[in-house]
Amino acid sequence: MNTSVQNKFDLDTPCLVLDMDVLEHNLQKMQAVANRTGKNLRPHAKTHKCSELAKRQIEVGASGVCAAKVSEAEALQKAGLSGILITGPVATPKKIKRLVDILVKDPSLMTVVDHRKSIALLDAELRERGQSMDVLLDVDVGLHRTGVRPSNALELADDILSRPSLRLRGIQAYAGQVQHIRSYDARRTASLKCLGEAVSVIRELRATVESCSIFSSSGTGTFDMDLAIPEVTELQVGSYTCMDMEYLAIGSAEDSTRFASFGPALRLLTTVVSRNQKGFVTVDAGLKSLYKHGGVPAIIGSEHSGMVYDWFGDEYGKVICSDKVELPSIGTVLELVTSHCDPTINLFDCYYLTRGAEVIDVWPIDLRGCSQ
Ligand SMILES: Cc1ncc(COP(=O)(O)O)c(C=O)c1O
Repeated sequence: MNTSVQNKFDLDTPCLVLDMDVLEHNLQKMQAVANRTGKNLRPHAKTHKCSELAKRQIEVGASGVCAAKVSEAEALQKAGLSGILITGPVATPKKIKRLVDILVKDPSLMTVVDHRKSIALLDAELRERGQSMDVLLDVDVGLHRTGVRPSNALELADDILSRPSLRLRGIQAYAGQVQHIRSYDARRTASLKCLGEAVSVIRELRATVESCSIFSSSGTGTFDMDLAIPEVTELQVGSYTCMDMEYLAIGSAEDSTRFASFGPALRLLTTVVSRNQKGFVTVDAGLKSLYKHGGVPAIIGSEHSGMVYDWFGDEYGKVICSDKVELPSIGTVLELVTSHCDPTINLFDCYYLTRGAEVIDVWPIDLRGCSQ
């Protein structure tokens, strides 16, 4: 798609920019790590919410793509993607109907399951429509959000195995609670410990159930640690594509003070719109364009050191300037690394793709708002 705007600093703001060089580095690096260790990569589209970006991940070598919700899977399928794993439980008859509608068009669709009741509902819908489906058992390794505790996993597996409409293909275990632990060593210890509980489950299942091969796991914060677990077969990492300050602030194998494995491909552009106060200026990105969760947004550029962003209501932000820097003038465009990429991306319709300062493409955020 062509755009008449050539320079990113001429774009209307607030808007989201994806730096193509950094994005390509991130995609290739994660794929290379997976390839080198013999794991599949099924990246999570919940982060970027963009089927164009998901297609790039497949081109680079991903074996499929994850979706958090049925509506995300619908949008990915509409864009022609397959090999979709829905990583959250689908628990109501209405939503299960939508799930099976996707399955009818693409038998490679998989979902996780974590409760007898939703398993029974899925089984009933599949039988009524003469379908069968691959499922993963969602194992709760300490986040306590979804999934069945490891001690109850084999009992639930038996329930799945008793239903001919369901093929148990393995397990999912996502340790969300450890992803942002600052210390690399403490994070590694915590991740290996909690995923160890799921290792016991997959070992037992593999010993008795021929179809059980998949162990889908990991996040950006633990990608290089979880690779060391031989039983893990695929990584369902998401944030590594775009990155944000919440992730960039944690230690990594390369640097104990920052996350150096992947770069901040995602940037938010915002413009100075008012300059009548002492010590700060007002910019046009507030709560409605920069999600307030996670890390502290960072303003890029050495000429902007001494400036700190803070939220200033729904439509505005405050850029506080130290005594040593001059207040930026009206119309100045600032480039920020966002606090938490996923919910920020969900506030925008498109990404502007850039090389250097040049805008080279526009990709729709077509999964935006797909929260059902
Ligand atoms: C179930 C599940 N898997 C994978 C991910 C990807 O994690 P990250 O964005 O830390 O790479 C998430 C993110 O929240 C998730 O909820």
